[in-house]
Amino acid sequence: MATHLPLYVWLLFIAIPNLFSTLAKSDTFIVHMDLSAMPKAFSGYHSWYLATVASVSDKSRVTTTTSTFPSSSKLLYTYSNVIHGFSASLSPSELEALKNSPGYVSSIRDLPVKVDTTHSSQFLGLNSNSGVWPVSNYGKDVIIGLVDSGIWPESASFDDKGLTEIPLRWKGECESGTQFNSSMCNKKLIGARFFNKGLIASNPNVTISINSTRDTDGHGTHTSSTAAGNYVEGASYFGYASGTARGMAPMARVAMYKALWDEGAQTSDIIAAIDQAITDGVDVMSLSFGIDGVPLYEDPVAMATFAALEKGIFVSTSAGNEGPFLETLHNGTPWVLTVAAGTIDREFPGIVILGNGVSVTGLSLYPGNSSLSQVPLVFMEACDSVKELKKVGYKIVVCLDKNDSLSDQVYNVQNARVAGGVFVSNNSDLGFFIQSDYPATFMVPQNGEIIIDYIKSSSEPKASLEFGKTIVGTKPAPQLASYSSRGPSQSCPFVLKPDLMAPGDYILAAWPQNNPVAEVNSRPLFSNFNLLSGTSMSCPHAAGVAALLKGAHPEWSPAAIRSAMMTTSDSMDNTFNPIEDVGENKQPATPLAMGAGHINPNKAVDPGLIYDVELQDYVNLLCALNYTMKQIQTITRSSSNNCSNPSLDLNYPSFISFFNVNDSKSDVQTVQEFQRTVTNVGQGTSIYTTKIIPMDGFQVSVVPDKLVFKEKNEKLSYKLKITGPRLMKQTVAFGSISWEDSEGKHVVRSPIVATSLSSEPLSGQN
Ligand SMILES: *[C@@H]1O[C@H](CO)[C@@H](O)[C@H](O)[C@H]1NC(C)=O
Ligand SMILES: *[C@@H]1O[C@H](CO)[C@@H](O)[C@H](O)[C@H]1NC(C)=O
Ligand SMILES: *[C@@H]1O[C@H](CO)[C@@H](O)[C@H](O)[C@H]1NC(C)=O
Ligand SMILES: *[C@@H]1O[C@H](CO)[C@@H](O)[C@H](O)[C@H]1NC(C)=O
Ligand SMILES: *[C@@H]1O[C@H](CO)[C@@H](O)[C@H](O)[C@H]1NC(C)=O
Ligand SMILES: *[C@@H]1O[C@H](CO)[C@@H](O)[C@H](O)[C@H]1NC(C)=O
Ligand SMILES: *[C@@H]1O[C@H](CO)[C@@H](O)[C@H](O)[C@H]1NC(C)=O
Ligand SMILES: *[C@@H]1O[C@H](CO)[C@@H](O)[C@H](O)[C@H]1NC(C)=O
Ligand SMILES: *[C@@H]1O[C@H](CO)[C@@H](O)[C@H](O)[C@H]1NC(C)=O
Repeated sequence: MATHLPLYVWLLFIAIPNLFSTLAKSDTFIVHMDLSAMPKAFSGYHSWYLATVASVSDKSRVTTTTSTFPSSSKLLYTYSNVIHGFSASLSPSELEALKNSPGYVSSIRDLPVKVDTTHSSQFLGLNSNSGVWPVSNYGKDVIIGLVDSGIWPESASFDDKGLTEIPLRWKGECESGTQFNSSMCNKKLIGARFFNKGLIASNPNVTISINSTRDTDGHGTHTSSTAAGNYVEGASYFGYASGTARGMAPMARVAMYKALWDEGAQTSDIIAAIDQAITDGVDVMSLSFGIDGVPLYEDPVAMATFAALEKGIFVSTSAGNEGPFLETLHNGTPWVLTVAAGTIDREFPGIVILGNGVSVTGLSLYPGNSSLSQVPLVFMEACDSVKELKKVGYKIVVCLDKNDSLSDQVYNVQNARVAGGVFVSNNSDLGFFIQSDYPATFMVPQNGEIIIDYIKSSSEPKASLEFGKTIVGTKPAPQLASYSSRGPSQSCPFVLKPDLMAPGDYILAAWPQNNPVAEVNSRPLFSNFNLLSGTSMSCPHAAGVAALLKGAHPEWSPAAIRSAMMTTSDSMDNTFNPIEDVGENKQPATPLAMGAGHINPNKAVDPGLIYDVELQDYVNLLCALNYTMKQIQTITRSSSNNCSNPSLDLNYPSFISFFNVNDSKSDVQTVQEFQRTVTNVGQGTSIYTTKIIPMDGFQVSVVPDKLVFKEKNEKLSYKLKITGPRLMKQTVAFGSISWEDSEGKHVVRSPIVATSLSSEPLSGQN
């Protein structure tokens, strides 16, 4: 209460408009303040924010003369790191009054946020004998913080066997709460905290079912075990994908910050979680969610991660699941890693053995035990009539999806209670269907035709269905998943996004044991492991790999780690052909879909060269985006940003150029130039030369085409020029530039994209 008197004095200076305004409905706002404007009278920013909120409060204005100290109930969070400011529940008149308060910068409305393994470590080439696992000590002592739906501490993936004492620098806590005792943390799960004030403020009637870090959904248990789960033998999903489960960085530590609730998720809680993670001292953050359609200065996740960057924290984010359409990704933020999702070399065949002995393979993750043996088979065309399907009786029905109606078909067949289903479909997004609750298999039209022909030519068609099978080593893999969201980034088109792809399809990872993973005959089924798909799954893979790199190279900046991951990623699949895009008819995936390529942890640990980025480079980019000083301040939290050197040309390990000037001179050639500086992180002397994979209709040139490094950490620069028409004919063209060292040890590859898509960044309300 030391501030009591000065505070009162200060309050007198605040305009008190509209004294008798009605108490209108309040909304939560995230409010940016200019700390340099804080009156000296305040002992700290918390008391200043409290006083500011109290001074504009409708209620306190009515009772100002009698109140001794203002109520703090409207203030939800005071943020220490992520922004200079707070979140508070404010009525429209309170917000208007706040805008006239000293030190007010800007505010945004709190938003709801959409929430977007056994084998994936082997697929990525991780092994105990060589490469990044032994070099990094399996990520020992690196702390990965996840903002997610909580954690199931009893899961064997969070057992701390083999882990050493918790690093002394760790300042986090294991908070008790409903069904969560602080003794549930250990040397693997070293932090557990939860945030829901914003959620409750936005929805006062909400009942929080489990008010603690305990995961009632499963998502957070899955992502955290993917990043850093310990070894668990005999893991599987009802026999599928069986083996030893482990995260990417099995010796790294996990800290869970729960801000995604079954009841909803709000940005005010999410940035409070990130704020705390920064204070606690995490090294790597994994954020499997994002906010669509906002500019950087109105994206709380972008702001919060800028603060993380300043503390040297590496942030991995998910691109989103809105593919295959272009310009759909979120987290297209220049200072984070934006991760797309791909398949791994594993499939789950659901086999149909026809009466004539021919067997045809589809895909199935049916969790039940029952195979079907020699059951009558019937072709029901589009399976669009439940009534007709119900007449079928105990038979396996075959449905042909000609009209993108697979979900209806699956639903209809379930309702008809037949013996089983064979679904013939081109649909490339089977993730939602193949964990079916009745015997079902899903197959491509070529295979389906064999079955349909057999039915048509047989007087008494029959088939058996077999489930529970897993094959690994399938080709081609990886492939870019159809649902993976595509660039260019809407918030900052000038930085190519996504950055890279990582495994995201049918990933096996830990799951809360009391949350059903499937249903068979309306009976819930439980499992300690679940198979999930999405960029939510690829994001923690990349976070885990970042933890390994941080373990191996503690001195590397977040940009250096990102650069190492990007420039060493694979553009070829396991058949040595360009990685295919499932969402684009298996055409080669473009960098707008997969970024630089598929993450390759063992190569990333020794990249040769890195593209580093200084904090001021990001500021130069924000300046060049023509943001106002206030907008820049919401991100950098500084009121004195140096915009003397604006530049959209960030020192990034990839290139995107826009050829979209549609005018009378559209076919005139134009040149786009980029400047890059690379740092030699390999051994002393080395000579690199360029190799360019050209792009259709464009000329790419590099000056100089040879870089001679005399020592480690030396920096050398080059210029890249792309020449093409002012308006290009196709939507996307792509190629790459590689710097290859003379010893053949390092290939430092960067993707190049030219596009006619819009380069107009999103703008916001402020
Ligand atoms: C937490 O667990 C410890 C050890 O099991 C027990 O002694 C303690 O009473 C528990 N605390 C609460 C609040 O349940
Ligand atoms: C909250 O509950 C009260 C009483 O049940 C109801 O009158 C009110 O409309 C509810 N508010 C919201 C936002 O749902
Ligand atoms: C949840 O727990 C926190 C900390 O124990 C407490 O402050 C808060 O009031 C609780 N919220 C609800 C909705 O029970
Ligand atoms: C499958 O069989 C095993 C062993 O008999 C049993 O534990 C499990 O519950 C069965 N699963 C289903 C889905 O019925
Ligand atoms: C699947 O796609 C191919 C190529 O687009 C098309 O020819 C075929 O008719 C489609 N088949 C079905 C069953 O939709
Ligand atoms: C495809 O679906 C659309 C919309 O549901 C419907 O209007 C159309 O008749 C369907 N076409 C076929 C061939 O079933
Ligand atoms: C910023 O403004 C300058 C001057 O008006 C303009 O040339 C440039 O294209 C703008 N940049 C962006 C990213 O819009
Ligand atoms: C701003 O940055 C430039 C270099 O880009 C530097 O010369 C100048 O001194 C800086 N201005 C201030 C006020 O720091
Ligand atoms: C270019 O402009 C013309 C005339 O406005 C328009 O018809 C055409 O669609 C535009 N082309 C592109 C690629 O935007």
